Amino acid sequence: MIRFLFCFLCLPLLSNAQKADYRVIPLPQQITADTTRVFLLTDGMEIGYPSGNPEIERTAGFLRQYIEETAGLNMKMTSGSRRAQIILTIKPEKRRNADTADGIYNGKYTIRIGKDGIALEAPTAEGLFRAVQTLRKSLPLSKGQPVAFPCGEINDQPRFAYRGVHLDSSRHFWTVETIKTYLDMLALHGCNQFHWHITDDQGWRFEVKALPELAEKGCVREQTVIGRNSGVFDGQPYGGYYTQDECREVVRYAAERYINVIPEIDLPGHMQAALHVYPNLGCTGGPYPVWQVWGVSDDVLCAGNPATIEFLKTVLGELCSVFPSKLIHIGGDECPKKRWKSCPKCQARIRDLGLTDDGQHSVENQLQTAINHEIETYLKSLGRDIIGWDEVLEGGLTEGATVMSWRGIQGGIEAARQHHNVIMAPVDYCYIDYYQVKENWNAPISIGGYVPASKTYSFEPVPNDLKEDEKHYILGAQVNLWCEYIAYPSHLFYMLLPRLDAISEVQWTDPRQKDFNDFKLRLRHQFRLYDRLNVNYCKTVE
Ligand code: ACM
Ligand code: ZN
Repeated sequence: MIRFLFCFLCLPLLSNAQKADYRVIPLPQQITADTTRVFLLTDGMEIGYPSGNPEIERTAGFLRQYIEETAGLNMKMTSGSRRAQIILTIKPEKRRNADTADGIYNGKYTIRIGKDGIALEAPTAEGLFRAVQTLRKSLPLSKGQPVAFPCGEINDQPRFAYRGVHLDSSRHFWTVETIKTYLDMLALHGCNQFHWHITDDQGWRFEVKALPELAEKGCVREQTVIGRNSGVFDGQPYGGYYTQDECREVVRYAAERYINVIPEIDLPGHMQAALHVYPNLGCTGGPYPVWQVWGVSDDVLCAGNPATIEFLKTVLGELCSVFPSKLIHIGGDECPKKRWKSCPKCQARIRDLGLTDDGQHSVENQLQTAINHEIETYLKSLGRDIIGWDEVLEGGLTEGATVMSWRGIQGGIEAARQHHNVIMAPVDYCYIDYYQVKENWNAPISIGGYVPASKTYSFEPVPNDLKEDEKHYILGAQVNLWCEYIAYPSHLFYMLLPRLDAISEVQWTDPRQKDFNDFKLRLRHQFRLYDRLNVNYCKTVE
């Protein structure tokens, strides 16, 4: 009779309940679920975390917030309680493979769902955060009804240690608020690296206290060309920069989501905004406007002027005081050698260094490597390592450089063969400033090209051409979002989503589990989550 009464009372609850679905994006490595047995989460239940652990308390707080915004249920928070229905626990474990990179080990977690509750376990606090993201994405988008969680277990860890997303804040300036939403999206997808491009020809956006005019004057272009270098200008000054305090706030916000911020000071090319403020650092002496058009400027830092290195050390010194990242991006891409070839100071420096064309590396390319070497040595003294675009191979790699392969995967292959770490971000798969729909006549303007989500999804970062003992140099993959043509947040997130979903399965999921049709089915739920979060996305998935 009592059992009958119990079922009778529970039935209305169960009939209202919507089911959680653990097949989220990125797809966890291993899911077992028995849909005939469920745990029923209802309003007012408790989330428990270890007492005296503010870091895990914060992550538990995120889960509380997610359950409220997704399922409309209010949870209570409780420390040190074994009674809570959802419990977050650190479970230390022996690291079986000493070679496992931190970025992989730290993402590892288990979720156990029994009929009385859910246990989230991980060897690190970051793992618990990743578990919380998976649980969050599994929630139905309901409003206050109980949620039925099929009993079972999820065992997960990322495939790659480096799971990156880039953002260009120079060509257009993004407020700290927009950057935070961007970071929220990275966290939702298990990404752990935010590559932040904060200086370029069209605007210098990082405050350097010892050089106050650099950001104040270098952040403003007098006007911007309309469309794709149409020759017609909008006549509107455009500017904005990040104070060091704002950068620290971005670092803090990212760190709470287990995302490292890699700042990029692109050098020695892409420096026209800096040359505007310090024309003596250019080969011709200027004057140089903050650039008002798109493309690659011939005007770059003069490599023969000792003041150039002093300038860079001042900038990078302050950069390192703000950004704790071990890796610092020094750009290195698209540095035309036209000015250097006719600059007496640059040519004198080439002679002083005794550089000669070895048939493989031109003297000017070697001159760029000489700058990289000085910068690498300086950054090493601050405990940092450099990463650069694949052009840094052209004058010969400096000792500890990580290579970001963007013009294809060949640069990455070469670097791995030279036993350098590599991030793969080839333009044909990973440039999400390209169009994502074939019929693009009514799509928001983009730089051109065609990189649909299916293309990004199909990317395999570890080339077959590499030998087995070279493959581990491929640390991971990244998508890049250049913003020449992107000026508003709704457009920014339209470009990011759902190609971020696509790259997240490249970065996280075992390739044997990847299936684009299945991914598209799972995207439906993700799109509803974006609607709920009020974040724009591209609704056409090709
Ligand atoms: C780049 O896209 N210029 C790295
Ligand atoms: Zn010069």
